[in-house]
Amino acid sequence: MGSESATGFAPGKLILSGEHSVVYGFPAIAIAVDRGTRVTLHRRPGPTSVERSVIRDARLDKALGTLLPSSGIGVEIDSDLPVGRGMGSSAALAVALVRARAALEGRVADFDECHREGFAVERVFHGTPSGLDHAVSARGGGVRYRRADGEVHIEPLSLPALRLVVLDTEVAGNTAELVAGVRSRRPSIDPLLDRMGELTDQIASRLAAGNADIGGLLDWNHSLLRQIGVSNERVDSLTRLARVSGARGAKLSGAGGGGIVIALVDDPEPVLSAARVRGVPAFSVGICPPHAPEEHP
Ligand code: PMV
Repeated sequence: MGSESATGFAPGKLILSGEHSVVYGFPAIAIAVDRGTRVTLHRRPGPTSVERSVIRDARLDKALGTLLPSSGIGVEIDSDLPVGRGMGSSAALAVALVRARAALEGRVADFDECHREGFAVERVFHGTPSGLDHAVSARGGGVRYRRADGEVHIEPLSLPALRLVVLDTEVAGNTAELVAGVRSRRPSIDPLLDRMGELTDQIASRLAAGNADIGGLLDWNHSLLRQIGVSNERVDSLTRLARVSGARGAKLSGAGGGGIVIALVDDPEPVLSAARVRGVPAFSVGICPPHAPEEHP
């Protein structure tokens, strides 16, 4: 039996390690965070349309059209993710939409449905997305992701408690340009990409063993990302700000060239207040546990 109104939620993500090197077959680690996107659908007469949305994007109607009938549905979209900063806001929207549609039909969407249908929506936004964002959004928790020989390997990664602060450069990096820039610097940077692959494996082993002491490895990761040319002065200054304010480690997360910095902290407050004083948008995030995204607090 269907309902008159239904809501679906899906989390955003952060890349803990492996951005850019993942393009060349090395692993990446992504985690679903306790922030995300909520889609509410309700039945009403007239053409299907967005009635309220914090995500403004010219492709929104087309994306909704991949899953919803052309008439009879009103759509509301809420999100507490920054848009266009590599936190997977469009993938979270895609998976939340799949969940809301299923709930409207009186069902629960399983992982396969979220993954498959969410990808169709995500493609409207990103053309040829890697698939990482919507996989981690649909699964929750941590994911070790690898794309090699045309195949994608996604393994759940159990995580200890991690407390992270996100600092926003307020500049959207251009992922396609940054990836092309890295490609143009090969093969001279290949040893750095190898090191990133090793480092990501080291971080994954520590996390899988329940060890959250990865601050130094995140710093090292950032230094490698700088050396392959995807950081800039604004990003570096936010990593320094986080470290001098007590973070255990800090790095850019995502494509770089702006975007966001993540800082591993014991207590978010000193980093948040240092950011506040300097007018840097920042917020604390935790992990969205696996298989319980509808229980989002
Ligand atoms: O900024 P994001 O979350 O879109 O991450 C990009 C990650 C890259 O490794 C730079 C590109 C990719 O397709 O994996």
